[in-house]
Amino acid sequence: MNRLSIRPSTGSTGQRIAPLMVRTWLEMVLEGKGVLVAPPLQVSQAVRRYFQRSYLRRKFKVDTRMDEMDTLEAIRKRRSIRRYTNDAIPRADLETIVDAGRLAATGSNRQPWDFVVVTDRATIEQFKAAGAWIEQASAVIVVVMDPASRWWVEDGAAAIENMLLASTALGYGACWVEGDALPLEAQFKTLLGVPGQKRVMALIPVGVAAETPMPEKKPLEMVLHWEKY
Ligand SMILES: Cc1cc2nc3c(=O)[nH]c(=O)nc-3n(C[C@H](O)[C@H](O)[C@H](O)COP(=O)(O)O)c2cc1C
Repeated sequence: MNRLSIRPSTGSTGQRIAPLMVRTWLEMVLEGKGVLVAPPLQVSQAVRRYFQRSYLRRKFKVDTRMDEMDTLEAIRKRRSIRRYTNDAIPRADLETIVDAGRLAATGSNRQPWDFVVVTDRATIEQFKAAGAWIEQASAVIVVVMDPASRWWVEDGAAAIENMLLASTALGYGACWVEGDALPLEAQFKTLLGVPGQKRVMALIPVGVAAETPMPEKKPLEMVLHWEKY
């Protein structure tokens, strides 16, 4: 698989790039050498958006993983993804994602978590009860927490966010499913053999994104207060 490294250059053109131009340019580059380095910022963003479309991914078999230190980029790019292609996720990538959860901040370093990675289709099918779309996911990471630990909710949230960001950085889409899973917690505990005293906090379906949602975010100036509220 070609490794496509798309890091924005420091200089930005300040222009909007027409979608068709980006696509044509990208296809030309990929038919040629397959490697792109440091296009202007707008190009790199547009290119990533195009690569979320499965036909381009499949046509060029390009790996759109970010470089490992692109933390801010992953934070900015992460979105809840609820539509996936049927591409599988390598086990090593799933391990990397869970490892990001394992390394999250945790009150008093209690680490009150376990992560169940489900790739079995029949089991994933059972998660449909929390949302029909979950069935499309290549894997579902189930976040199991120990409520005996004082900060279990905060710790679970930190681990989940880390895993969402790791999924983004590796080029996958994921979603934090908690509200829809909570009413089905007992059912999922039985399904997975989770001990009675533990909690199933959330499901994280992961897959290759087949959508690029852009939910509106409050602008920075609306939520940032300097010195006083
Ligand atoms: C605590 C929590 C619970 C959530 N539960 C669900 C859920 O049950 N189902 C779902 O589809 N999305 C769920 N989400 C995802 C949110 O809907 C999503 O984060 C929000 O709409 C903002 O969109 P974004 O993640 O793309 O920025 C949850 C997110 C959080 C933080």
